[in-house]
Amino acid sequence: MKLLILLGLILNLTYASVVDDYLNNLKIEVQKSNPNFKGFDIKRGEEIFTSKHMGKKGKEISCTSCHGIDLTKSGKNFFTGKVIEPLSPIANPKRFTEVKNIEKWLRRNFNDVYNRVGTAQEKGDVVTYILSKDK
Ligand code: HEC
Repeated sequence: MKLLILLGLILNLTYASVVDDYLNNLKIEVQKSNPNFKGFDIKRGEEIFTSKHMGKKGKEISCTSCHGIDLTKSGKNFFTGKVIEPLSPIANPKRFTEVKNIEKWLRRNFNDVYNRVGTAQEKGDVVTYILSKDK
């Protein structure tokens, strides 16, 4: 049990530094083309996460179609019905601990919903929104 708590703590620290770095790098990228950029925005992120679009498979979906609206709860894949573990790092300490994984899924999932990859600003906004739900 103690070991589990310790492991959780370590994962939590990893998550905080990984996601901080990730967001900082995205911010630098946005500022290259928009020097006046102030920072990522929870409201814009919420719109990205909850609004419906004609997705890749010709069905209207949003990020919530698979992840649900309560991110501390498991979701369900809209297409396959497979359970998806919660997106919230508090409910699921494995979340946001590996940039490669975050990037891979954001690329795939933006394609699912928007039929294109997300911009640096969109990715930053939506991740900021997801993390804001933990506060
Ligand atoms: C068709 C279903 C589906 C949709 C729609 C979807 N996702 Fe996902 N998402 C998944 C699956 C499956 C995974 C990977 C399995 C897992 O990690 O549990 C995943 C993983 C992720 C991760 C990985 C986080 C991590 O570090 O583990 C993020 C972030 C994410 N999704 C964000 C989004 C966003 C933002 C949208 C909307 C643009 C979205 N998802 C739409 C199914 C979906």
